[in-house]
Amino acid sequence: NIIHVILTGGVGSRLWPLSRKSRPKQYLEIFDGKSLFELTVDRNQDIVDKVIVVGNVDNCDLSRAILEKKNIPYLDIVEATPRNTAAAIAFAAFAADPEDILIVTPMDHIIEKKDLYDIAVADAIQKAEEGNIVTFGIVPTKPETGYGYIEAKGENVLSFREKPNLVTAKGFLAKKNFLWNSGMFCFRAEVLLEELKDFQPKIYKKSKKVWDHCENGRLDLELSKEIPAISIDYAVMERSKKIKVIHSQFLWSDLGSFESVYDYLLSKGHPVDENGNMVIGVQNFTAFIGMKNTILVATENANLVLQKEYSQDVKDLYNELEVEK
Ligand code: GDD
Ligand code: MG
Repeated sequence: NIIHVILTGGVGSRLWPLSRKSRPKQYLEIFDGKSLFELTVDRNQDIVDKVIVVGNVDNCDLSRAILEKKNIPYLDIVEATPRNTAAAIAFAAFAADPEDILIVTPMDHIIEKKDLYDIAVADAIQKAEEGNIVTFGIVPTKPETGYGYIEAKGENVLSFREKPNLVTAKGFLAKKNFLWNSGMFCFRAEVLLEELKDFQPKIYKKSKKVWDHCENGRLDLELSKEIPAISIDYAVMERSKKIKVIHSQFLWSDLGSFESVYDYLLSKGHPVDENGNMVIGVQNFTAFIGMKNTILVATENANLVLQKEYSQDVKDLYNELEVEK
């Protein structure tokens, strides 16, 4: 079977105050009446046999409401506390049969040119059947520090580097054979679990224990707290020798930070002034004086004024916030 695994457990902290605990960004119906979550389901529905959603108690009802509308079997796994993506992916792999092919995707991407997406995924499935862990590489356009980088030689991966600093990212961009990791993966369940067991035995062991004790996909809080919270990129992708990369041709935008939302909106004709300042969220007339590349994010009860280049730092602010998240 081919299974679409949707990771929807992140809090979207880099998009505060647009994304709120009670109203996470991926469920806002802002794309022709659909949410990012629904677009993600739709994009893969004709490719897969089943969906596994790995989310949390705050959003499982929102995910279920969307999946109920679709004619596709699904399982929802509800984490008691976020343990990052290595554990989240492990739960989906435990839930699947060892031979199943998993296509793991986040739900905060916009992908255009679906025909090219389908070609890339078909290619990935074939490589996954051969025992590889497949990544989808995107030609980088700037030295983004919020992404992983894949050093590619054809379909082979020479190295994988998660979230480099700016100097390193600039070096990668200059070298031409580095691609962005799109954050989507395709592999046989057993292949990923073997690699996790080798490189992160503690994550493997602790998440297996949580999975074996869970009831109906509901995970236990106390046991979950013992799992090291590490992303799959650091845990496995930076170390595995089984990684292949698809040179993806589809259009990909990550809507994970305000800088990427800014770029996406700009490409869709959203207004900016002559100094690159942009307003997101309100219709009010807004003027900027003496500022460049500033983003004003305005919502009903919270505003954010941000220098575009500092978009990754919103996460730190979020973590320190004492007002409503
Ligand atoms: N269930 C669950 N539990 N999901 C989670 C958790 C968790 O604890 N933590 C994160 N997620 C989900 C997020 O909601 C998102 O859909 C996906 O996993 C990836 O997490 P992000 O937090 O968005 O990762 P990132 O953006 O920093 O980095 C990843 O994506 C980049 C591209 O967007 C990496 O794979 C990078 O290498 C990649 O370039
Ligand atoms: Mg992201």
